[in-house]
Amino acid sequence: MTPGLRATMDENLKQDLWLPPSLVTIEFDAGARLMETHSMEHGRRFPEGAGVRTANWVRLSSVLMVLVAIGCRTKAVAEFHADGTSATQSEWEKRDSWQRPAEVMDALGVRRGSAVADVGAGDGYFSFHLASRVGAQGKVYAEDISESQVEKIRERAKKEDLSQIETILGTEDDPKLPKGTLDAILIVLTYHEMQNYDAMLSRMIRALKPGGLLAVIDDEGEPNQTRSSAAQDHKVPKELVRADAARNNIRFVREEKGFEANPNSHLFFLIFEKPKR
Ligand SMILES: C[S@@+](CC[C@H](N)C(=O)[O-])C[C@H]1O[C@@H](n2cnc3c(N)ncnc32)[C@H](O)[C@@H]1O
Repeated sequence: MTPGLRATMDENLKQDLWLPPSLVTIEFDAGARLMETHSMEHGRRFPEGAGVRTANWVRLSSVLMVLVAIGCRTKAVAEFHADGTSATQSEWEKRDSWQRPAEVMDALGVRRGSAVADVGAGDGYFSFHLASRVGAQGKVYAEDISESQVEKIRERAKKEDLSQIETILGTEDDPKLPKGTLDAILIVLTYHEMQNYDAMLSRMIRALKPGGLLAVIDDEGEPNQTRSSAAQDHKVPKELVRADAARNNIRFVREEKGFEANPNSHLFFLIFEKPKR
């Protein structure tokens, strides 16, 4: 087989476009192979050099088709990057339907002017809901141990002019929240990831005002499951969370209606209160 036309493509670009590393070469060779197979099957004789010329046209068409496809993908990726929020936005809208963020904030008494923290904020789904509820007079500490997540939230908050959001890069055992200032702390789908839950709990409780509320929303593990086995499934038994809270002297207040994120996962919603004095 005559060697196919070859083009080189930057490896990062391939990754960005979700293309397999070998795609370009495979496409061109496939074009050549197709032409040769076609000629043999039909037993036709082409004038000297005609097969090669036609094969080159097939290869060239393949190149053009690949380049057009790449162009479209590049544009889509560029739009996604330029906007920076569009993909997240539509995921968040879908999540609103089962996560019921307004109900969560109501249950915690979050209102205009409240000071709250979103511990393990991830991409900021709750941080931004909280920011719109507390308004410019309020405060939202969006904390995570992942630098990239914290940076994403910081950039978006800046872009949306939400000065009430303050990002914090915490550590495995310290969310680095200011002491005694918070009305509520929300921990969503993050408790199961904590290794040093006692240290985290005591520091979060220290950050609450007397009477402040701590909410844990997480994927429910089996009641008798060990912490490590549940953590492997990204779950935690709610009994363990309650035992941790009791050991750290924060009072269990109530369990709110949970969430069905998907048919295989039920999220519980527990609320605790820091003693008033
Ligand atoms: C599954 S995500 C949930 C994100 C967000 N709460 C949400 O509901 O979309 C878990 C997040 O917890 C963070 N995380 C893990 N251990 C943590 C810890 N000890 N303190 C703070 N964040 C932690 C991870 O970096 C990750 O962003």
